[in-house]
Amino acid sequence: MFSRIAGTGSYLPAKVLSNHDLAQRVDTSDEWIVARTGIHQRHIAAPEEMTSDMALKAVEAALASAGVTAEDVDLLIVATTTPDSIFPSTACILQEKLGVHGFPAFDMQAVCAGFVYALTTADQFIKSGASKCAVVVGAEKLSNIVNWDDRNTCVLFGDGAGAVVLKADAETGILATHLHADGRYNGILKTPGRAVANAIDGEAYIHMDGSAVFKFAVKALSAVAEETLAKAGLAKEAIDWLVPHQANIRIIESTAKHLHLSMEKVIVTVGEHGNTSAASIPLALDAGVKSGRIQRGQTILMEGIGGGFAWGSVLARF
Ligand code: ACO
Repeated sequence: MFSRIAGTGSYLPAKVLSNHDLAQRVDTSDEWIVARTGIHQRHIAAPEEMTSDMALKAVEAALASAGVTAEDVDLLIVATTTPDSIFPSTACILQEKLGVHGFPAFDMQAVCAGFVYALTTADQFIKSGASKCAVVVGAEKLSNIVNWDDRNTCVLFGDGAGAVVLKADAETGILATHLHADGRYNGILKTPGRAVANAIDGEAYIHMDGSAVFKFAVKALSAVAEETLAKAGLAKEAIDWLVPHQANIRIIESTAKHLHLSMEKVIVTVGEHGNTSAASIPLALDAGVKSGRIQRGQTILMEGIGGGFAWGSVLARF
């Protein structure tokens, strides 16, 4: 049995924060942000809008696009770094909002690699026969953990959610998956704060060594793309679309160059969405599908990397 992506969906909060808006608050400029990151704007959730609310909207759209209902779902995985609360899991809260219950629902924490980790996990459930219709969501309210006075980080991130419905199928969908982690690099991108005795011990904001992250990301993403292609027995030329984690246009361009892919074959949403961590790949995938660029039967390579460090990729025939 194989896993096939039967539908995609996404959601972005209504509020848009432009680079010019940010320049009113911190010492930065539209020119600096665009030149270094490719980001023009990001969406920001309303204060009362939880990660599970954004996830719900993305899942509803994905279910509709797959032609199934919540009653058909037998597995729910939410990739998120910004859960509604420490517990219960955002997946359990989302399951209740979907009006269904009983089947396994859990969160997956691999930061910006969360979606490829969750997709790989759901693929294993389907291949083993434990699931026939899985929903995989990436949803983030990063605005909660961004220090809006730190120009090194606040220009990079945004909120949103994306989802896919994975169905068991006799025909190939997901061709190969490959995951990695290297905990020795856990210090270069993190939120140091811990919840202790009803308070936060340390800062709960994102801290980042930008240039170390940049160097690590380019090397790791290029290598994992090759490993995943090799597993599937395919050459670089087989890729119709690269759907990368949307952290930074320069990281995306470097990966595409390594794969000998023209930027015409890369789905890029970082300019409009910013970095939405676990939500960025399913948001980009849905944008590629809805715009008619990604077509059934085409081969897509999704890849993500994030804090931990954790990274991986999923090669699929759409
Ligand atoms: N506006 C203006 N100046 C800024 C800003 C800003 N928003 N942010 C930092 N600077 C300044 C710094 O203070 C520093 O000034 P100084 O030299 O006087 O100390 C200078 O710019 C740093 O310049 P560079 O080191 O040349 O900046 P760089 O080209 O490395 O770009 C960036 C910084 C964009 C953060 C880059 O390192 C990067 O993209 N790293 C990857 C980070 C990333 O993508 N993180 C996302 C999370 S991880 C993931 O999703 C994979």
